[in-house]
Amino acid sequence: MKRILLAATLAGCAAESSAAPVPYGESAVLTDTNDDPNIVEVYLVAGHSIAEYLPGKPTGVWAYRDGAVPGAVGTVPGPTLRAKLGDQIIVHFRNELHHATTVHWHGPRVPFRSDGSHTSQVPVEPGQAFDYRFVVRDAGSFWYHPHVHGYEQIERGLYGTIVFEGGVTPDVTADRYLVLDDVKIADDGSLPDGTSDHDLKFGRQGNLLVVNGRRAPVDLQVGVGARERWRIVNAANGRYFNLRIPGTRFFVIGTDGGLLPTPYWTETLLIVPGERYDVLVTFDGLFGPLQTIHYERGQQEAPSDPRQLIRLRRGPPVMAREPLPTRWRDLPRMEVTSATPVRRVALGETRLPGGSLVFTINGAAWPDNFDQAIDLGRGDVEIWEIANDTAMDHPVHLHGTFFEVLPDQAGWKDTINVRRRSATRFAVQFDEPGTWMLHCHILEHADDGMMLNVFVRQ
Ligand code: C2O
Ligand code: CU
Ligand code: CU
Repeated sequence: MKRILLAATLAGCAAESSAAPVPYGESAVLTDTNDDPNIVEVYLVAGHSIAEYLPGKPTGVWAYRDGAVPGAVGTVPGPTLRAKLGDQIIVHFRNELHHATTVHWHGPRVPFRSDGSHTSQVPVEPGQAFDYRFVVRDAGSFWYHPHVHGYEQIERGLYGTIVFEGGVTPDVTADRYLVLDDVKIADDGSLPDGTSDHDLKFGRQGNLLVVNGRRAPVDLQVGVGARERWRIVNAANGRYFNLRIPGTRFFVIGTDGGLLPTPYWTETLLIVPGERYDVLVTFDGLFGPLQTIHYERGQQEAPSDPRQLIRLRRGPPVMAREPLPTRWRDLPRMEVTSATPVRRVALGETRLPGGSLVFTINGAAWPDNFDQAIDLGRGDVEIWEIANDTAMDHPVHLHGTFFEVLPDQAGWKDTINVRRRSATRFAVQFDEPGTWMLHCHILEHADDGMMLNVFVRQ
């Protein structure tokens, strides 16, 4: 019987709801070892560890752990970095993997030397260490992950969440972080070595969905009348999550760059690789599971049935919360006029003469598109038009700053889905000099060339 269930789980989804329940859980918070209340000083280690995605079948993973806790083991996701606006962050990072790696802070603005990208540092070799330092300038929900062969390193479990407090704090019953991912796992629990042609082209999609490193659907009890805040990140290589909860709606209060000036209601929430949303969910009446429904991104897969991520169990009624704030955030818009320069960035895909596939920006695969790099001054406001002439959507991510999607999407973004055969425009401005990256967050595409340098002059 067990065998049959397992086979069905691997095949897709039919048996997911009948598999043994896995309780919802979150990773620990990184220990702040500094007595100064305005300094958060942590020890982060990347190493080899074990996860149990399939019951009784250990999976070898690469994972972060808290280096300040004796005997701590690496977890997927890694420990959460928690701090508040204005704090000084010091991360003493050590690499115990057999591969060179870095840590990139996806979202918060950091000085260039701490960006963790290919251009900001030499990767940290096995056994070596590196200190990342920055001041918290942005409140919101962010994440961290390596910037070396992400399609493999993130896939194997190297990612963790970041919560920076600040600004308006709505009164909620629970404040959770949901890290959505999928793994392509064999029935002995192993993860594959190497990437198939199909996965290279479309971004690898796993056969098992995971929430906070646990096999979906996970079980979560919510009290009747509860109002919960869910911070959600999509940490998958290629999968788009298109979320809904039958019977209730999401109240979207924040995205990549923190709170929105004007929150909005939605029944479905598309979240592409790299992106974050902060939502409030109120559980009164009847409500269904958190599910992901099919989204057509040009991945050439037959539409699938909804798949369950969280089974929501009804708990006892909870006390009413304070009314929601009426003002969330004052966020001045970037000043865009008809004189603002418009820069075109073209996403492409091409077969090389030898037959191999590469992804390109502005006509060539990184780093061969060096001559096509973006060059602008610190403080310059520009409009970038990201044109996608390919047959699939690409989630485009920018390091070093946030942007504002035009014409009128409010809120700061660092990752945006650019639909196939269409273009997306945003206004952008940098205040930190550096050689930042613009890339597709389908990790196979980034590694295979869909990346561009952005030079921001002093
Ligand atoms: Cu989350 Cu450059 O990446
Ligand atoms: Cu990033
Ligand atoms: Cu892509």
